[in-house]
Amino acid sequence: MALERTFVILKPDALQRGLIGKVISRFEERGLKIVADKMGRMEKRMCDEHYSHLKDKQFFTRLVSFMTSAPVIYMVLEGAEAVEMLRGMCGATNARKAAVGTIRGDFALSTQCNIIHASDSKETAEKEVARFFSKEEIFEWVPSFEKFIYADDEK
Ligand code: PPS
Repeated sequence: MALERTFVILKPDALQRGLIGKVISRFEERGLKIVADKMGRMEKRMCDEHYSHLKDKQFFTRLVSFMTSAPVIYMVLEGAEAVEMLRGMCGATNARKAAVGTIRGDFALSTQCNIIHASDSKETAEKEVARFFSKEEIFEWVPSFEKFIYADDEK
């Protein structure tokens, strides 16, 4: 089983509500490896590209306006089955329906202001990582605790 990378955005509501540290702590406490991390304001052009599959939705303009309203945190996380695992940690897109114990289920009540974006497939993750990070911004490193996170055949 190979380690996978997934892409995450901590959305403007996470920053405005002072929840960045709590969310990142969940990644660290679970054993996920942070391999890239930066703050930036999502430009409209980036938003149009990132959410191009939603451009015909009635909420699209509102979503772009929200995502460009304050800086966001971009991250790349690495772990076994990281894409699916992260989606599980996020919970349902509509935070009102997200299970308690998930990030959205514990911190949010909205479909728009739902704290976090996480890639929905390995293919999307590859595209999104490349869209937001250069190769130089992604770091290879071995956590000292890795042998206590996975058995040898799990990574
Ligand atoms: S998912 O989880 O990506 O499959 O969900 P999806 O329903 O496709 O939603 C994709 C993103 O659109 C946002 N969204 C909305 N924003 C505002 N208003 C409404 N009604 C709405 N419905 C969906 C949702 O937060 C998802 O954002 P990302 O950044 O992809 O998580």
